[in-house]
Amino acid sequence: MHTSNPDLIPEIIEILRSNNRVTVLTGAGISAESGVPTFRDAQTGLWSKFQPTELATPQAFRQNPKLVWEWYTWRREIIKKALPNPALFALAEMEKLFPEFVLITQNVDRLHRIAGNERIIELHGDIFKTKCSVENIAVKDWPDKGDIPPLCPHCGGMLRPDVVWFGESLPARILEAAWEAASSCQVFLAIGTSSVVEPAASLPIVALHNSAVVIEINSQDTPLSGIANYSLKGAAGDILPRLVSGLNR
Ligand code: OAD
Repeated sequence: MHTSNPDLIPEIIEILRSNNRVTVLTGAGISAESGVPTFRDAQTGLWSKFQPTELATPQAFRQNPKLVWEWYTWRREIIKKALPNPALFALAEMEKLFPEFVLITQNVDRLHRIAGNERIIELHGDIFKTKCSVENIAVKDWPDKGDIPPLCPHCGGMLRPDVVWFGESLPARILEAAWEAASSCQVFLAIGTSSVVEPAASLPIVALHNSAVVIEINSQDTPLSGIANYSLKGAAGDILPRLVSGLNR
């Protein structure tokens, strides 16, 4: 059944109530109401103003490391000012309600952690972490000699944000954990993601193949909308608190 009727919230609450294993996948839309720009929304999305190939690929970093580092510094400054919104708090509450709850996020902004979720799989890394671009190891502190990007204190290579760029593979253990959570859950929620970036876009499909009920929450249609069992159109900050308050009743 495919539907976008928000009146189905009571039905979805009943589905959630009768299951223990819930996996959630989030994308930039879950942080949008905190003031963090998404990537693909028309007008406001980052990719409507910037070219991903110039900022979020290993080639871009090789060609213009200063530009890439400074773009991430700009994004970190926006994210530092953001506070969790009602959708993020609702997911933190949901984690407490289900014995087996896993949150997979494509976001790098730490907002799920700040809202209170603990079982988080960060598919695309963490914008506040830094690693050496040569040795691929995490680096916490480095001498500030004014270099942009700063240089690795061990090998002198350039430091880069510890995020996954286009053309890079996700760390194997993270991808395995996400696959396991998608294939073993009874209910899979895909929230605020355009469902176009792999491998994240395949996770709801994996869940469907393993007989989970797949529920999408998004303000727009996505390639998942016609495949999911339920597709709720609206703001995550409106729909998720309603689901959680129904579960608490
Ligand atoms: P996108 O920007 O592609 O998609 C955000 C989705 O959230 C869109 O489908 C919007 O309709 C929806 N949305 C926006 N505001 C919403 C709200 N308040 N409530 C519900 N839905 C809302 O972001 P992602 O799908 O996360 O990767 O993008 C996936 C990856 O592509 C990112 O992790 C990033 C990006 O390029 C890398 O940088 C490697």
